[in-house]
Amino acid sequence: MSGSSVTEAIIEVDNVTTAFDGHVIHRHLNLTVHRGEVMALIGGSGSGKTTLLRLLLGLEVPQAGSVKIFGHPLGRCAARDLERVRYRWGVLFQNGALFSALSVFDNVALPLRELNSVPPDMVKPLVLLKLAQVGLKPDDALKRPSELSGGMVKRVSLARALILDPQLLFLDEPTAGLDPDSAKQFVKLLRKLRQELGLTVVMVTHDVDTLFAVVDRVAVLAEQRILACGPLTEVARLPHPFVRNFFLGHLERCAEEDVKRFRLSLDDTSEEGGVPAVLREDSLI
Ligand SMILES: Nc1ncnc2c1ncn2[C@@H]1O[C@H](COP(=O)(O)OP(=O)(O)O)[C@@H](O)[C@H]1O
Ligand SMILES: [Mg+2]
Repeated sequence: MSGSSVTEAIIEVDNVTTAFDGHVIHRHLNLTVHRGEVMALIGGSGSGKTTLLRLLLGLEVPQAGSVKIFGHPLGRCAARDLERVRYRWGVLFQNGALFSALSVFDNVALPLRELNSVPPDMVKPLVLLKLAQVGLKPDDALKRPSELSGGMVKRVSLARALILDPQLLFLDEPTAGLDPDSAKQFVKLLRKLRQELGLTVVMVTHDVDTLFAVVDRVAVLAEQRILACGPLTEVARLPHPFVRNFFLGHLERCAEEDVKRFRLSLDDTSEEGGVPAVLREDSLI
């Protein structure tokens, strides 16, 4: 990646106001996400995080302001342009949103079949490749979503989000509802994929360990706008009540060296074999 592309803006939210039935959710909200970075979005329940993701996906339209993705203004591009932009991003919605009547294979294959962009005999190798990439076995392809653990559902959803080889990935609370071990394994997977695929990621999360492990910058959504946006170690020290509460009990870990050490130790551990020692609660103190 060249130096200039590092700061290329992939997402530009400019002065956005969003309201539902006169109830204002975002007011004069600004946010820029650069190519190759992992941006976390944190904020209280009901503060408008999912709505902001939906704005970025073109699923909601702001009352005022503009949203540009890959340089395309969302509200104003022609339907055909929007379609083209859409295939450059993948989404993992909050609840995984797999189709329960479809097998794992068919869930992951769905975007390929809808788009019809690859010859039918390529679908199988591509789906199996994505399943392997997220740590699932070929046998898992035959299962139904109801036969999967929470962690596996997230992996299948991630495989589906990645099947069209997107440059940009949106994740809404990807570790919510997972047991701590599955959450940690999932975060490790995200880290690996981010390194392998050079993805730009926008992720809503409540999970401080997720922030430690993968995030480059943190945006705080509070008081209807992005109150602050910067490296974790800086944002964690903001004297704002929401931020203080969010990092309560974690602040002492937010020294830059601690974050680096945490990440390095993640690299040392193998994919298999349960939870790496560094990820156990007692090693985090
Ligand atoms: N389609 C909608 N119609 C009306 N109100 C909505 C809609 N979507 C979200 N809201 C409201 O907007 C606020 C923010 O919701 P949301 O973005 O889901 O919050 P968060 O993800 O931060 O918990 C909530 O009060 C929610 O009830
Ligand atoms: Mg939400």
